[in-house]
Amino acid sequence: MKIEEIRIEDLRPEEFIKQKVEEISSTVGNGLAVNALSGGVDSSAVTMLGHKALGERLKTYFIDNGLMRQGEPGYVASTFKKLGVHVDLIDARKQFLDALAGITDPEEKREAITQTFYKDAFGLLVRESGAKYLLQGTNYTDVEETLAGIKRQHNILEQLGINTEETYGYRVMEPIIQLRKSGIREIGKALGLPEEIYKRPPFPGPALSARVIGEVTPERIELVRKATKIVEEELSNTEAFQYLAILHEDRVTGMKEGKREYGFQIEVRCWDSVDAITGSPTRLPHDTLDRLAERITKELAPVVSVTYNITKKPPSTIEAV
Ligand code: XMP
Repeated sequence: MKIEEIRIEDLRPEEFIKQKVEEISSTVGNGLAVNALSGGVDSSAVTMLGHKALGERLKTYFIDNGLMRQGEPGYVASTFKKLGVHVDLIDARKQFLDALAGITDPEEKREAITQTFYKDAFGLLVRESGAKYLLQGTNYTDVEETLAGIKRQHNILEQLGINTEETYGYRVMEPIIQLRKSGIREIGKALGLPEEIYKRPPFPGPALSARVIGEVTPERIELVRKATKIVEEELSNTEAFQYLAILHEDRVTGMKEGKREYGFQIEVRCWDSVDAITGSPTRLPHDTLDRLAERITKELAPVVSVTYNITKKPPSTIEAV
């Protein structure tokens, strides 16, 4: 079925919310639904829509896949607690890291995440809870990029011909699939999400594994996690669409404490974009770039080189994997 985009200029947030709440209520009936909340704009908006429609009959989980940013599980649970939404934290770190071990191909990594998420982690939660539906925050850009063959976004299933009921044992509902990021921010605001959530820069479903080139190991994730924290601290005042750190696979010769060190490279990206379809590198002041290089190489002992991506999307994409 073709999905019709709702453009931001045609979006009436209150009407949209009313309609989606009714759709969720009538589809789920008296049953239960589950959803995974990552704390990003999309899953946060869906969580609020689902809670408006189902109240306690929506079970919300934060799946800790071991690939999230520093402090993220606690931050998300406490933010939603203030909104009256209970979030169950699920420790699935070992499952995801085991599934990713030894894989270097980007699409194979994405496939491993998809299978672990929908089959293992969610399959179990759905079986245990008796829910028949999974609510998720797929957006219009995810569908478009996957179908165009640019990147297999982790959350695209039915649009690729996957029958989720047969494959995973539950049906998937995607209430914001007609919207792009700017529309979802409007909906999030109208649903009463705090500004720090509805204005949050996007973060990909495969999380930090989309930012590790080559094999994902706990050590390499930890390195990119620390670099991400520095990049977010330094660039959060830029109003850019998204900013990130990438760990490269190749190492280069550098110097640490006057000695040769064959060390790691971190690439920083910072994007100006409206909807992630196209993007341009933000023209960051050189002082900011200097500070990033200095902090990353000082605070992360194995890193000897920091680069800034100067390529537009296309031909680059926003994430590296
Ligand atoms: P790319 O890298 O394709 O990213 O230019 C476009 C936007 O989508 C985010 N992204 C993802 N989001 N699942 C998601 O939910 C994914 O698999 C995924 N991959 C990329 C990315 O952060 C950017 O905002």
